[in-house]
Amino acid sequence: AGKELRFDGQTVVITGAGGGLGKAYATFFGSRGANVVVNDLGGSFKGEGKSSKAADVVVNEIKAAGGKAVANYDSVEDGDKIIETAIKAFGRIDVLINNAGILRDVSFKNMKDEDWDLIMAVHVRGAYKCARAAWPHFRKQKYGRVISTASAAGLFGSFGQCNYSAAKLSQVGFTETLAKEGLKYNILCNVIAPIAASRMTETIMPPDVLASLKPDWIVPLVAVLAHSSNTTETGGIFEAGGGHIAKLRWERAKGALLRADDTYTPGALLAKWDNVNDFSSPEYPTGVADFMSLLEDAQKLAPSPAAKNPDFKGKVALIT
Ligand code: NAI
Repeated sequence: AGKELRFDGQTVVITGAGGGLGKAYATFFGSRGANVVVNDLGGSFKGEGKSSKAADVVVNEIKAAGGKAVANYDSVEDGDKIIETAIKAFGRIDVLINNAGILRDVSFKNMKDEDWDLIMAVHVRGAYKCARAAWPHFRKQKYGRVISTASAAGLFGSFGQCNYSAAKLSQVGFTETLAKEGLKYNILCNVIAPIAASRMTETIMPPDVLASLKPDWIVPLVAVLAHSSNTTETGGIFEAGGGHIAKLRWERAKGALLRADDTYTPGALLAKWDNVNDFSSPEYPTGVADFMSLLEDAQKLAPSPAAKNPDFKGKVALIT
């Protein structure tokens, strides 16, 4: 038999753990020796109402199976109270999983400020408040793992979800920066874009599709990223669903370079537009420094061939 990936003595805080993916994470960590903080506001998937029931059910389930767990019923907007629950009950926090979420789907034409603001409050401010409260503990103990939750809707866009898309892609930028700031303190931060059957997706996907998208199948990715044996993966974007797990990254096309002899005009750019879109030999940037070195390399090149090509210059001259 192989060795289990264990979390004995560690405290794992999971937001929105009263159902869906969060519940799958919570019961897993509970079964692998972790102290689990099961946070859930207990409202509807649209963010209405609240109840202690959702979190309590999961805590009882973990305890009945011999695990250690406490409930927290605060909104992620009060992230400091959630982290306080972890410190009071277990004296530490090692892993934060920003998972809580709601939907307010409506076409952009009909979007109201309330739909926008509530989505931002839960997903963006909520993840911020929880991570901000956990951060001093992580830094002090020189250990922390943060997993935040994006969505395909955020990465690629999705009809009727512009509020949710904006909030979900925010988790990517948030994670990329926390990964950079946390590295020195062994705080590793990653973001996942899951697809799984839950109350969030049950109304928009047919039952046969949902049957092949078990929340439990997202757990292995979260476990691997959250474990102390992960010492290298940070700032990563991972998609997971239906048993498929893959990393995503940014890709940069060859690009156009305008120089003084191109006159920096819109026409000069139009003449090189194919290069802007040329992904035949891409680069995979991971930081602003990559862009600066790209510019330096480009400036070392010979003058633009456009300058020596009369046809080209003629074409450029049509549009300025
Ligand atoms: P779910 O609705 O079953 O679980 C979300 C949980 O968060 C609920 O139990 C809810 O009560 C809780 N919650 C909502 N607002 C809260 C707040 N302010 N404070 C504390 N808890 C709160 O949905 P699911 O599918 O498990 O979603 C989990 C995460 O995964 C969400 O962030 C969601 O946006 C994301 N996601 C899910 C996808 C899917 O296919 N199920 C696709 C892409 C992203």
